[in-house]
Amino acid sequence: MAESTTPDFDLIVIGAGPGGYVAAIKAAQLGMKVACVEREYLGGTCLNVGCIPSKALLDSSERYSDLKHAAARHGIRIAGEVSVDLPTMMARKAEVVKGLTGGVGMLFRKNKIEHLKGHGRLTAADTVEVSNADGKRAYTAKRVLIATGSAPIQIPGLPFDEKFICSSTGALALDSIPKRMIVVGAGYIGLELGSVWNRLGTEVIVLEFMPHALPASDREMAAALQKSLEKQGLKFRFNTVAESARVEGDQVKVAWKSGDQRGEETVDRVLVAVGRRPMTQNLGLAELGVAVDRKGYVQVDDQFQTNVPGVYAIGDVIGGIMLAHKAEEEGVAAAEVMAGHKAFVNYHACPSVIYTHPELAQVGYSEDDAAKRGPIKVGKFPFIANGRAKAMGETEGFIKVIGDANTDRLLGVHILGPRASDMIAEATVAVEFAASVEDLARSFHAHPTLPEALKEAALAVDKQAIHM
Ligand code: FAD
Ligand code: NAI
Repeated sequence: MAESTTPDFDLIVIGAGPGGYVAAIKAAQLGMKVACVEREYLGGTCLNVGCIPSKALLDSSERYSDLKHAAARHGIRIAGEVSVDLPTMMARKAEVVKGLTGGVGMLFRKNKIEHLKGHGRLTAADTVEVSNADGKRAYTAKRVLIATGSAPIQIPGLPFDEKFICSSTGALALDSIPKRMIVVGAGYIGLELGSVWNRLGTEVIVLEFMPHALPASDREMAAALQKSLEKQGLKFRFNTVAESARVEGDQVKVAWKSGDQRGEETVDRVLVAVGRRPMTQNLGLAELGVAVDRKGYVQVDDQFQTNVPGVYAIGDVIGGIMLAHKAEEEGVAAAEVMAGHKAFVNYHACPSVIYTHPELAQVGYSEDDAAKRGPIKVGKFPFIANGRAKAMGETEGFIKVIGDANTDRLLGVHILGPRASDMIAEATVAVEFAASVEDLARSFHAHPTLPEALKEAALAVDKQAIHM
């Protein structure tokens, strides 16, 4: 009897992060027989050691900070001292993660997606070898989707031990509150996790190689956030790199360099957060001839196809902005392409949020980038003039709306303030629908709400704000 040539699956996804698991579900919904290879944890970086645990600790530490610093202003007296129970805080974080990763397993079962546990490696365009403690087994599929994500970049002089010299993973799981901590990198992770430990009582010193924080964000907004974090106690040293670190007893000595100056700082813990790199080791890419760029990111076209027919890639491993919702949209689009649809991801309308206090959220162009395209007009509105923000006692920050001076098209929205992460959703829809600034300015906004400040910032673009 001739050997059957029917592949085991229509699609094998390698990696069950937000890119991979969402692609697997979408493909199953589109009628494909799907398997997802995952060697570590369902939900990937995001659910296990990224977005979710960091937000759990940001929320817990913010509640603590509120009780300590803001409750009295609201007329709430606390008898006795407010203190931190770190093991309980960490246990709550673990519970949140467990619930959500369990939810991914449930969604896999609901959509009849087979979870192949182990390390996946492409041995041919239609074959993935899965290795685990039981050995190796090859599975075939009509298509393979690489969604293997990313890992923290390690500085050679500061090798991670995840106890004293930590990546974000270690810094999300410290077993005591350090007295002093150096954070290398004033990017997303540095500012978020630096905030967590600062709020819990650690003296946090951030070393940043560039002359300012958040090099990829709108200059004015990043500078305002930096100022606010400084008021909260974070210390920044710009134009400074950490060269090496050595552990001595229970402390770490960090050697730094700034221009011609060199120095050493003794701290209890170090967090190195200088970006992430694509995860492609032992994936079989070179053997199969899958093209990667200079930094190792898998190269794809706008339909997420690599140069090898049948092999697709999405998420952090293909580069671009490394965000969970970016990976998810790409996952959905790639599954649709495989089902014969034409897909499109509008990166211009991809929001990003830094979950500090206040939060910084942005969508569309920064002011500098918008100005490079042609004449612009800008409107701003401070939360101090917003009724709801006043009622909440959360008046720090402002909103900036950028429009095209000729066409009135909305080009960018930047929000520094309370619940900016929620408020950016309205601006995202407006950018996606190619709204005009006037569309935002003339839409109803319930009163009293924080988004009224967005309407006012849009009105301010043409100098028509009411409450300013
Ligand atoms: P990943 O989530 O990295 O998933 C890849 C998966 O593939 C992993 O589970 C890995 O084990 C598996 N894998 C890799 N190689 C193989 C192999 N050969 N075989 C089998 N399995 C394999 N983004 C946001 O949008 N919002 C946030 O608030 C946010 N916070 C973050 C906080 C931190 C501390 C960090 C580190 C990141 C944060 N991010 C956030 C970024 C976000 O986590 C990533 O952009 C997102 O997880 C990328 O998804 P992905 O599916 O591409 O890859
Ligand atoms: P990042 O790219 O955001 O920031 C890294 C910072 O380190 C930059 O400011 C860079 O100039 C600086 N840097 C680089 N090398 C340095 C050196 N040798 N010494 C000192 N500073 C140096 O990277 P980060 O914070 O590691 O986060 C990785 C990615 O994870 C983010 O870019 C983001 O995509 C994602 N993320 C998203 C979050 C969110 O959406 N809220 C939260 C956390 C991470």
